Amino acid sequence: GAAVAAGVAKHVLDVPDFPEPGVTFKDLTPLFADPDGFRHVIDAVVEHHGPDSFDVVAGIEARGFVIAAAVAYATGTGVVPVRKAGKLPRRTISASYSLEYGTATLEVHEDAFHRGERVLVVDDVLATGGTAEATLQLVERAGGRVAGFSVLLELGFLHGRQRLAPRQVHALLTV
Ligand code: PRP
Ligand code: MG
Repeated sequence: GAAVAAGVAKHVLDVPDFPEPGVTFKDLTPLFADPDGFRHVIDAVVEHHGPDSFDVVAGIEARGFVIAAAVAYATGTGVVPVRKAGKLPRRTISASYSLEYGTATLEVHEDAFHRGERVLVVDDVLATGGTAEATLQLVERAGGRVAGFSVLLELGFLHGRQRLAPRQVHALLTV
């Protein structure tokens, strides 16, 4: 609710012109570093979906890993890393996407999920939605079922939510 959103807002720093002119970078490292702030966002993600609604948590490299690991630990589940191209050692499924700045490819191991496994996908920020769109595709192509998608911060003016429709996006704070 409002308290969780305020907690996120309190610990996010706006960094102008990073990584390039005209882009304002949302730095969540102060939120991750704050013991109460971090615990509250992890608890809020778990509470929103319900701890019994997913079997495994997929975290998107790199900042999503921080969240995925904590959510998985809190719920007694495991983590599947969705990685940038070339990092995973075995056969992968990959999806390319365009970012707010640049292009990238994400991969998962082809056997990352059991068929029909319920996968909660988490990341720190939803911006244009390219990263999330590629990840949700990967989960399904790898045999998983997307049980939910959460971010700590949504940049509403970039319309990532519309791009992902009809999928639901859970954001703790939208700016
Ligand atoms: C950032 C952020 C999200 C993504 C959102 O990651 O952590 O994953 O961008 O952007 P989008 O909605 O426009 O796709 P980035 O690719 O910068 O990499 P990082 O997490 O490894 O820092
Ligand atoms: Mg990221």
